[in-house]
Amino acid sequence: MRNGIHALALITAAGLLVVSAVATADDYPQGCVDCHRISEKGSGLRYEGDFRIQPLLAQTGHRWLKKIKTVPNDCTKCHSDDSDLPLATIVHLVHFEKPEANVYTTEFGGKCANCHAMDAPAGEALVKSGPKNW
Ligand code: HEC
Ligand code: HEC
Ligand code: HEC
Repeated sequence: MRNGIHALALITAAGLLVVSAVATADDYPQGCVDCHRISEKGSGLRYEGDFRIQPLLAQTGHRWLKKIKTVPNDCTKCHSDDSDLPLATIVHLVHFEKPEANVYTTEFGGKCANCHAMDAPAGEALVKSGPKNW
């Protein structure tokens, strides 16, 4: 199960768009980068300003993510399953650690499907991805 999901996480956004086209409309077809982006005033998004992952992480002292091309797939170069900080663990933690306080649950409904998609024919869960936007 774990291996299955991990392998599928490497499927490209192009492949996922086919899957989501037959499902319902999706505000975040490319997952992370469709929510973590720069929001102009009046854009209708729930925040204003620079919400891209790299600037957010830089504020925490995280190293500059120069070599990343696809998000979140390339994060696993360092955050692999057998590292001290596996991607699934840290990404779930930053969005869900304190549900009553996490903006992700209070403002965005805490939806799994903002990051995950379902490959219905294969019966497997995927992680949506897209090109980096920084
Ligand atoms: C639908 C919107 C949405 C999506 C999709 C999303 N995030 Fe987030 N993310 C948030 C919000 C809101 C926060 C602020 C944390 C909180 O309080 O919940 C956050 C916080 C973060 C942080 C913490 C930044 C800090 O200040 O330490 C990181 C890193 C992050 N997200 C990475 C990701 C990655 C990687 C993905 C895709 C796998 C992703 N996010 C998908 C909304 C989103
Ligand atoms: C070149 C290696 C490298 C890459 C690539 C990388 N990280 Fe990291 N990350 C680290 C290291 C090392 C730490 C722990 C030390 C620190 O906080 O800088 C860390 C810590 C974090 C933390 C804090 C975890 C915690 O609980 O302390 C988050 C969140 C995070 N990374 C998210 C990401 C995301 C999202 C990506 C992809 C967009 C990414 N990282 C890509 C090396 C990397
Ligand atoms: C903010 C983005 C985000 C949200 C929201 C999210 N996930 Fe994930 N999830 C990920 C990422 C990234 C991975 C790691 C994929 C990889 O390792 O390639 C992952 C991995 C997983 C895995 C694989 C097993 C593991 O933990 O390694 C399961 C199961 C899972 N998620 C379930 C859920 C469920 C259930 C929810 C809703 C309660 C959820 N996720 C919400 C981003 C998210």
